[in-house]
Amino acid sequence: MLPIPPLDPKRYQLEELLAARGVDLGWLNAESSPYGTSNVARWSIVEADKIIPVHYAAAIADNPDVLQWTAELKANALKRQQASGAPIASIDHGPSLLLLGPTGTGKTHQAYAAIRELAITGVVARWTVTTAPDMYAALRPRHGIDSEAEFRSYRSAAVLLVDDLGASKVTEFTEEVNFRLVDYRYKHHLPTLFTSNALPRELNDKLGARVTSRLREMCQNVPVLGQDRRRRSAA
Ligand SMILES: Nc1ncnc2c1ncn2[C@@H]1O[C@H](COP(=O)(O)OP(=O)(O)OP(=O)(O)O)[C@@H](O)[C@H]1O
Ligand SMILES: [Mg+2]
Repeated sequence: MLPIPPLDPKRYQLEELLAARGVDLGWLNAESSPYGTSNVARWSIVEADKIIPVHYAAAIADNPDVLQWTAELKANALKRQQASGAPIASIDHGPSLLLLGPTGTGKTHQAYAAIRELAITGVVARWTVTTAPDMYAALRPRHGIDSEAEFRSYRSAAVLLVDDLGASKVTEFTEEVNFRLVDYRYKHHLPTLFTSNALPRELNDKLGARVTSRLREMCQNVPVLGQDRRRRSAA
């Protein structure tokens, strides 16, 4: 882990988040060894900033189920660190979450907020983030691309965000990617945050029975309901 110099809280839009979680900026920017929790938190904040789209760069999780999920992942990582004596606590196994709700209710906002939530804890979460349509596009077999290697980078990600699952037209190809991805992550207990616009009763049709069955067991379903926030902010 690289030593990370003190962070400007404004640059990383941290002030409100740190205040909400009672995290002291003095602690975050304290000198520490590269493996110290302050340095790990700084490293995680810098890494999170690279993958969070600017629109969600200040997102703060306010969904209790999302907060409970991040707390559980952190607790699991600390427990495993204690058992193994590893220098750093890393999230590598745990439950998954499926945020379900109509458009504009805040699913993507909560998902990126979860990344920020874990980043300030001093526990390492190595996220891979994608939308389902972007993932299918990245995996389409084409010249000069090893699509199996590409697939493995999603399949084996320590923590994976798949935004907009079920948003694409169903094809044999998307069905196969969904099944192979979900089945692998299900079998290996790899934490995944899925979001979907589908109604719970539509999941079967959009994803197929075998994917839906696995999702049901591996994920907590979290309804994200309410108005389309985009419409409200435009009004
Ligand atoms: N808790 C929140 N606080 C402030 N703004 C929010 C919150 N949740 C969502 N928003 C804002 O509302 C808008 C819609 O949120 P978001 O993009 O997360 O919706 P979504 O559920 O992912 O929609 P879609 O299904 O169309 O992808 C965005 O501008 C987002 O930044
Ligand atoms: Mg979204």
